[in-house]
Amino acid sequence: MSTNKIALIVGASGIIGSNLATELLATNWTVYGLARRPPQHLDGLHPVAADLLEPAALEAALADVNPTHVFITTWMRQDTEAENIRVNSALVRNILAVLSPKGTVQHVALVTGLKHYLGPFDAYAKSGTLPATPFREEQPRLDIANFYYAQEDEVYAAAERDGFTWSIHRPHTIIGKAVGNLMNMGTTLAVYASICKETGRPFQWPGSEAQWHGLSDVTDARVIAKQLAWAATTEAARNEAFNIVNGDYFRWSWLWPRLAAWFGVEAAGYDGTVRPLEAQMADDADLWRTMAARYQLTVPELDKLASPWHTDLDLGRPLEVMTDMSKSRKLGFHVYQPTEASFFDLFAQLRDDQIIP
Ligand SMILES: NC(=O)c1ccc[n+]([C@@H]2O[C@H](COP(=O)([O-])OP(=O)(O)OC[C@H]3O[C@@H](n4cnc5c(N)ncnc54)[C@H](OP(=O)(O)O)[C@@H]3O)[C@@H](O)[C@H]2O)c1
Repeated sequence: MSTNKIALIVGASGIIGSNLATELLATNWTVYGLARRPPQHLDGLHPVAADLLEPAALEAALADVNPTHVFITTWMRQDTEAENIRVNSALVRNILAVLSPKGTVQHVALVTGLKHYLGPFDAYAKSGTLPATPFREEQPRLDIANFYYAQEDEVYAAAERDGFTWSIHRPHTIIGKAVGNLMNMGTTLAVYASICKETGRPFQWPGSEAQWHGLSDVTDARVIAKQLAWAATTEAARNEAFNIVNGDYFRWSWLWPRLAAWFGVEAAGYDGTVRPLEAQMADDADLWRTMAARYQLTVPELDKLASPWHTDLDLGRPLEVMTDMSKSRKLGFHVYQPTEASFFDLFAQLRDDQIIP
């Protein structure tokens, strides 16, 4: 069956982009997936290899691609927020500039995140006051420079210029499958638990007291994929920003022992000291290589799977963080995903794919 919905996923190999590709391919879209190294293994995906920071090459790579819907699920990590703003706004500006003369784009969806409300990593809680939770879309921007704001502004300016509609999507921590991407808490914890099992170390909570006891939520990569597809094709969702989380709240003090039990390791909770995962895993690269050989695992490089710096930032926050979903619900998006199953589904998939023992 032919389709008139042509998606360009920008960042198609990422944790959000690759799960979005799977969702759109299963629901009758034509799908182009752009990255410097786009996925080659997704049945039906048209890979587009290009660097968003090289406009001439980008234009050439997209010469025959005429998308109706553009999904921007990309970022590049820089040392300072000023650099984040410079580079990450260019990613958005460049892709929309290359597509502009084609005149085919009807809708652009941009994925940012809860740092919209929290401030950038290097400014968590540094404004002096903790942001109000649960986060709601109408909360005003913080008075702190933020690359998400710069990316949004690029989308708004291009929408004005080219006449497309837009949607902005703000997930919490994404739980889902991706290999070699920048931030992946689910796989980080799976690898960490596998190392604990191998060595007999306890599965030690790495974060803050506020995160251990407080309420939290996460975003299953399959759930944000469904919201992106919904917003791109729903009249009432046009030109709106949306939070996106699973829909349940949990406390890490409840979830942590359950994750440990899945692996058959001993859980150790918050005991008055923050014990960052980055330090806990600092010497594990050789051990992982040995485990990869012993259990025939497909990715022997620990740093391609685990991003403890990011897990530490999320779980080390000085406040509880959770997200209001009323706006999407009111407009008709009702997808719900129990969080425990988000983790267990991922762990099972990682085991099936021989990424963990
Ligand atoms: N992961 C999370 O837990 C999480 C949580 C909340 C919000 N977010 C936000 O969601 C957005 C998307 O993040 P993500 O985690 O999905 O990213 P990701 O998994 O790290 O993927 C980034 C994608 O962008 C591509 N890319 C990077 N630089 C590129 C360039 N110069 N040219 C072309 N493609 C490039 C990457 O592929 P190549 O490297 O092959 O180019 C990859 O496909 C970000 O704003 C992030 O802050 C993420």
